[in-house]
Amino acid sequence: MMKKNVNRRNFIQTASLAAAGFYVMPFFASCKSDTSTRHPETVNKMNKDFIADLDLQLTALPSQTNIYPDSSTKTYSYRASIIKGSEDNLQNIEGSYLGPVIRVKKGDKVRVRYENQIPAESIVHWHGLHVSHENDGHPEHVISEGETYYYEFEVMNRAGTYWFHPHPHKHTGEQVYKGLAGLFIVSDKEEEKLNLPQGEYDIPVVIQDRTFNDNKQLQYLGDGQMDRMQGFLGEQILINGKIDNTLNLGANGKYRLRLLNGSNSRAYKLAWDNGEAITVLGVDGGLLKAPKRMSYLMLGPAQRVDVWLDLSQQSENSRIKLVHLPIPLDMMGGGMMNGGMMGNSSSNHLPYDTQFDILEINVGAFAENKDAQLPGELSSFNTLAATDAINKDNPRTFTFAMGGMMEWTINGRTYNGTEVAEEETVKLDTTEIWRINNGNQFSSDPDDDSGMMGGGMHGNGGMMGGQGGMGNMMQMPHPVHIHQLQFNILNRDADKVDDKLWEATKDGFINEGWQDSVYLLPGMQMDLIMRFEDYKGLFLYHCHNLEHEDMGMMRNFKIV
Ligand code: C2O
Ligand code: CU
Ligand code: CU
Repeated sequence: MMKKNVNRRNFIQTASLAAAGFYVMPFFASCKSDTSTRHPETVNKMNKDFIADLDLQLTALPSQTNIYPDSSTKTYSYRASIIKGSEDNLQNIEGSYLGPVIRVKKGDKVRVRYENQIPAESIVHWHGLHVSHENDGHPEHVISEGETYYYEFEVMNRAGTYWFHPHPHKHTGEQVYKGLAGLFIVSDKEEEKLNLPQGEYDIPVVIQDRTFNDNKQLQYLGDGQMDRMQGFLGEQILINGKIDNTLNLGANGKYRLRLLNGSNSRAYKLAWDNGEAITVLGVDGGLLKAPKRMSYLMLGPAQRVDVWLDLSQQSENSRIKLVHLPIPLDMMGGGMMNGGMMGNSSSNHLPYDTQFDILEINVGAFAENKDAQLPGELSSFNTLAATDAINKDNPRTFTFAMGGMMEWTINGRTYNGTEVAEEETVKLDTTEIWRINNGNQFSSDPDDDSGMMGGGMHGNGGMMGGQGGMGNMMQMPHPVHIHQLQFNILNRDADKVDDKLWEATKDGFINEGWQDSVYLLPGMQMDLIMRFEDYKGLFLYHCHNLEHEDMGMMRNFKIV
């Protein structure tokens, strides 16, 4: 349909089974050939009656990647091959540690034979997908090196940009950091009718930050507990797993950029450097009803946004950049904790409060899809109404905050295996409002000394821009994510958000459409409405700052 433009370098190559000769070499070359004779143990059973449309072998393994063009970096990678399906189902990102882009249609039956070949326990979570407990990648389902876990599910989600990553308790941050992540893109009939840009005009843009040592090897957290408390922040931005952040696109072309913030803890305030508005087509759970133009965009960890890029005003050989604009967040995390009471951090991470480049687009030869049109309407759907919620008068409230033992908690609790509290139990086939808030759970009264952090910290109380008090001092943004479903946002209350921070971010939030992750600023409160359908069982909700999650800012909710 769309021909390859040979004048252009593309991030993406369509994969074929034989094209598995990536730039990424298996770290232990002999591993792969061994597995066929070694018969890795399987943990759960394959269901022979499940007739898959797409049957994939997905292996997590140590790898070496040229993140920098001239050096080889030790990484982990997901590698996939098709057992049943078509070449269109898998797209490798050339030269990247990232897993392949898995492309499916709504209604497809998918089997994934996940083989763990990293020297640690792991399990794959399908972020954003509506699947059963057994297929969700719960930390209790981790498998050891050499074992295989079978996923079998039907794709029930709307067209949208979903993703997959490990979910072992305490080690998600490290494993994602080393490279384990990939996109899972769903299309459906409604979307197909729109004739949005496809093929080489539909481009994944995975944004991550990383820190390298002198040997160009990945460095995760520094020694201090504070790096962990704050969440990992890197010194370099990687796009699709590469230091080289340039995309070469055709003048006049129309593109769909699928942005994923795959960073462990960093959020971005994104804008075009030429001052043009960002045109948003979709969010986590698929297309919006209509395109939305925004002067800038806040993208928290785990969030996705599909952006329309029209290069028809760009001349050949020009360039535009997607940049991060300054936000006053350093005081919340790094500055406050590191510079304040907790001693200094060793890391030279990119400060939030500065502008830096995310993506550079070189406009090359003229593109072939110049006639592609931005539709005025994208999708029609009914959102959930507050009046449908069984708890509309008394929303279930979850507070994301620092707990008394200097740990990140949800309603004062941390993750404990399959434990689920009464207030975390919901009923199948009901609609509920969840009120999530980012606050201090013991005391917002600066004179109240009852918290276990003790009086010694009071001296620093003024650091938070006048809002003062011990409570605010220990606040950080929490990117809150709920498994298994997509919700609508009913309300975003920023009354208690620091004025400067709100001023700098308020036009970047999207409250429309279906979402599974939100960026909850310190002091912010949001009402989310969701419906529990199809599957009973245990699912997670947690902070998607992966270091917070690993420290236990994660809980189960149970659908009964
Ligand atoms: Cu993307 Cu439970 O996470
Ligand atoms: Cu998830
Ligand atoms: Cu958090």
